[in-house]
Amino acid sequence: MKLLVTGGAGFIGSNFIHYWIEKHPEDKIVNLDALTYAGNLENLKSIENNPNYKFVKADISDKEKINEIISDEKPDAIVHYAAESHVDRSILGPEAFVRTNVLGTFNLLEAARQNGNIRFHHVSTDEVFGSLGPNDAPFNETTPYDPRSPYSASKASSDHLVRAYFHTFGLPITISNCSNNYGFYQFPEKLIPLFVTNLIEDKKIPLYGDGMNVRDWLYVEDHSGAVDLILQKGKIGETYCIGGNCEKTNKEITYKILEFMGKDEKMIEFVADRKGHDLRYSIDSSKIQHELGWTPKTSFEDGMKKTIQWYKENESWWKKIKSGEYQNYYEKNYKDR
Ligand code: NAD
Ligand code: TYD
Repeated sequence: MKLLVTGGAGFIGSNFIHYWIEKHPEDKIVNLDALTYAGNLENLKSIENNPNYKFVKADISDKEKINEIISDEKPDAIVHYAAESHVDRSILGPEAFVRTNVLGTFNLLEAARQNGNIRFHHVSTDEVFGSLGPNDAPFNETTPYDPRSPYSASKASSDHLVRAYFHTFGLPITISNCSNNYGFYQFPEKLIPLFVTNLIEDKKIPLYGDGMNVRDWLYVEDHSGAVDLILQKGKIGETYCIGGNCEKTNKEITYKILEFMGKDEKMIEFVADRKGHDLRYSIDSSKIQHELGWTPKTSFEDGMKKTIQWYKENESWWKKIKSGEYQNYYEKNYKDR
């Protein structure tokens, strides 16, 4: 089997590539990524010389290039992770979100359709369902869409397009909507890696508003395992909700990190709230559990301890990000390949 993974140089896509190569070493993987600020080929250093792995630098908003790559590579399946992924950035500059998440997804769907109806898995987020009140039932596959940030609106648009290509053109698609991920190689702009790396550097940690917003957390490898199962056994045309069954307020996460790192609560700095900040996300993943036999394997305590340890042991990885040096990796190591 040959997979074309988009966004494989990012946090979750790179985890999926490592996972897949370990579990299916005979398969071929093409990693298609534009290397935006969030793409970092150092995440894949240990496999960059694997003969079954290939990197192609391309922007999914470039329709002709995408069609050319897909018609040359002829993958058996496309696993689509590439996206602008950070809510705060979508508030500062929504345009890139529409270009990559909406137009880019459209270009990939067209290329999949024009090159023999290639199997297409679309990786999406629980944020498309909107914001829950404290006592509302969790999101599931039948929850109406109600996105409220430019990020979630662009992901919702992409989900609709993917489903439309199934109904209209018979493209063999599946979609997954996952809750907040954490783990190794997460870009230090998101809550957990930002707080952990700031604390290692003895810097304050900026908690938005009153810290009472709730997210459901999943260890990234459990997300990769779920996507693997959907690719192998998922029903074409279906959507699967993936979650860690692990709801926590941001304050709880913050105190856990402080506890595990032996730091004082004086490190917390309450800052102005995010505009339109969704109060609560929660996912009911019983469909994927019952139909495909998936369950999250890593507990929050274990996942957090491993993650904090990883950031402590890999200071050079995130310090290069904070200094901007990581952006030279492609020029130094890939340009002449
Ligand atoms: P990320 O920001 O870490 O990585 C995104 C990757 O996509 C980067 O490698 C980047 O270079 C690439 N990319 C961006 N624009 C591109 C373009 N125009 N063309 C080609 N490549 C481009 O994101 P992530 O956290 O790894 O998220 C991956 C996917 O999972 C996204 O689709 C996101 O919506 C979804 N998701 C994320 C979470 C989460 O908690 N991070 C939860 C649920 C779903
Ligand atoms: P984030 O990691 O950006 O993921 P998302 O917005 O996609 O859920 O944020 C997780 C939660 O943490 C969210 O409620 C916003 C909050 N947050 C902070 O309080 N401070 C921060 O510096 C960041 C980045 C996030």
